[in-house]
Amino acid sequence: MKAIRIHFAEDGDELRMEEVPQPEPKAGEVLIKTQAIGVNRADLGRRRTASEGQQEPPRIPGLDVAGVVESVGADVTNWRPGDQVIALVRSAYAEYSVADPVLTYRPPEGMSTTDAASLPCVFFTAWYAFQMAELKPGETALIHAAGSGVGMAGIQIAKALGARVLTSAGSDERVERGRQLGAEAGVNYSTQNVTETLLGLTDGRGVDMVLDTVGGAIFDATLAALAQGGRVVTVGGHTGQRAQYEDQDLARKGQWVRAMGVFNEAPVDVDQRGWTQMKSWFETGELRTLVQEVIPWTEAKRVQDLLANRGVFGKVVMEVG
Ligand SMILES: NC(=O)c1ccc[n+]([C@@H]2O[C@H](COP(=O)([O-])OP(=O)(O)OC[C@H]3O[C@@H](n4cnc5c(N)ncnc54)[C@H](OP(=O)(O)O)[C@@H]3O)[C@@H](O)[C@H]2O)c1
Repeated sequence: MKAIRIHFAEDGDELRMEEVPQPEPKAGEVLIKTQAIGVNRADLGRRRTASEGQQEPPRIPGLDVAGVVESVGADVTNWRPGDQVIALVRSAYAEYSVADPVLTYRPPEGMSTTDAASLPCVFFTAWYAFQMAELKPGETALIHAAGSGVGMAGIQIAKALGARVLTSAGSDERVERGRQLGAEAGVNYSTQNVTETLLGLTDGRGVDMVLDTVGGAIFDATLAALAQGGRVVTVGGHTGQRAQYEDQDLARKGQWVRAMGVFNEAPVDVDQRGWTQMKSWFETGELRTLVQEVIPWTEAKRVQDLLANRGVFGKVVMEVG
């Protein structure tokens, strides 16, 4: 089959379309024929462990796939060849990928395959962050980076859960687009003082819960605007190191900070309660996805450059075939 692999090199990584062996579904696995691939910031990352001095071998990136079930391994009873499916996988940039049935989902009725491919990683990440924080109706949730995939999803889910939603972004225009998705107000972290603005928007109380995808200085500014009993779920942090914070400072205010990984949380949701809820919200229009552009997968490099250069609001999807 054809797949796109990242080849790692000191002077720049390269994406190459190559022939690789087609995976076989083992017992308890579903083989998916790819129709569309959702693109995530995580696809751009390297996993090389510099400390071990090892060159990372070429790798097929990609976490989101939409397509058709091609075949199933032994013990898989809930999927049949021909079923339309979306899934969280480990190597999505390929004509076929294998998935754990717990991480495979029936797409919302009436949704295009390309829209469906944009859903799994970002909507599940936001959903599990709110579960972890036990976000309650009426609480104020701050969803950073309105234009990120996770931000676009998080604003809508938090609103659907009954929270008062605030957001942030790197420009006034992107903050405004966050408001159009359901945030009540937002902060432009390129030009405004994040802590002061958030305290101003909450009458000095601070925010109850934060979904942080940005990290760095924005994380620190947010922590200073956290309410008594506030919770921060951090899932990203591509903008740099977070400052050290004192556990005792958090404890005094009944606050906590936790890191969350969607590949840890989603398999625990064996009855797929999260998807049952979100799928119905997609079907009633309470949630929608925002795919800025659908691009052939032969142009994967252009897609990744768009994302790396902050040129996307919401998602980009690659079409296969
Ligand atoms: N732990 C997990 O399970 C999990 C799951 C999904 C995602 N993540 C992580 O969450 C983060 C967001 O993922 P995503 O796919 O939603 O990202 P994305 O769509 O690429 O969006 C990232 C956004 O971050 C904002 N940003 C702020 N400062 C930036 C900077 N210095 N460089 C680049 N972007 C900057 C940009 O918006 P502005 O231009 O408006 O600032 C950009 O749109 C990533 O770190 C990703 O790895 C983690």
